[in-house]
Amino acid sequence: MRLILLGPPGAGKGTQATRLEDKFGIKQLSTGDMLRAAVASGSEVGRQAKAVMERGDLVSDDLVIGVISDRIDQDDVAGGYILDGFPRTVAQAEALGALLAKKGSRLDVVIEMQVDDAALVDRISGRFSCGKCGEGYHDRHKKPAKDGICDKCGSTEFKRRADDNAETVASRLKVYHEQTAPLIAYYREQGLLRSIDGMADIDMVTGAMVEILEGIAATSGKAAAK
Ligand code: AP5
Ligand code: MG
Repeated sequence: MRLILLGPPGAGKGTQATRLEDKFGIKQLSTGDMLRAAVASGSEVGRQAKAVMERGDLVSDDLVIGVISDRIDQDDVAGGYILDGFPRTVAQAEALGALLAKKGSRLDVVIEMQVDDAALVDRISGRFSCGKCGEGYHDRHKKPAKDGICDKCGSTEFKRRADDNAETVASRLKVYHEQTAPLIAYYREQGLLRSIDGMADIDMVTGAMVEILEGIAATSGKAAAK
C-alpha cells in the first residue's frame, strides 16, 4: 500500500503515520524527519536545508525529490509506505508520479487531513517529543502518562523543534496554503483523494484512516491491518 498523508503543519501527519505504520506494517517516510536528520548530521543536504527550514520555507524541489527518490528504492519499503510531508508542491507530485510510473507502481490513496489554522497553531506551539525514541507529545492534548517520562521508552529527555516558534509557524501556514494546498485539487482530479476531519481527537482520526485503508485493502487484496 502506498499512500500520502496530506495536510498543513501540525495537522497530525506524523502522529497518525506512526500509528498506521504499527497497524499496517508499512513504513512512514517523513521528508521533514529526513531533512532534520540531515541537518543534525551536518551532511551536504542538511547544510542546504537548515536555514530554509528555520525560516519555514520549502527546501528546493530538486533536493527533496532526490532524497525521496533514493529512499523509495530501498528494499524495506518494497511493500509500501506512508508519505508524510511529501509531495508539497505540484512539481514534487509530478516527479513522484513519474518515479512510480517508471517502477510500474502507483499510489493507492491520498488522505487529506482538514484542520483549522487556529487549531494548528495551538497544536504546534504545544508539541514536544521524546529525545530518545521520537514519540510525539503535546502539552495539553497528549501528555506522557507519568509527567516527564516517555510512555514508549522511559526516557526523561524531551525536545522541541527549532521551527516551532510563532513567527516560523505563520510562515509555514502561508507556504502550505500557497504551495501545497493546490495538491488537493490535483489528487482529486486523479480520483485518489479522500478527505477526513482532522479536528477530531487523535483516536477518531486514526479510526477514519483505518476505515479508508481497510476498504482499499479489501478491494485490492493488499495487506490488511494487523
Ligand atoms: P515537516 O516536518 O513535514 O513539518 P510540517 O509539515 O510543518 O508538519 P509537522 O511535522 O509540523 O506537523 P504534523 O502534521 O506531523 O503534526 P504532528 O503529528 O506532529 O517539515 C518541516 C520543514 O521541512 C518544512 O517547513 C520544510 O522546510 C521542510 N520540508 C519537509 N518536507 C518538505 C518537502 N516535501 N518539500 C520541501 N520542504 C520540505 O502533530 C502536531 C501536534 O498536535 C502534536 O503535539 C500532536 O500530539 C498534536 N495532535 C496531533 N493530532 C491531534 C489531534 N487530532 N487533536 C489534538 N492534538 C493533536
Ligand atoms: Mg510531522
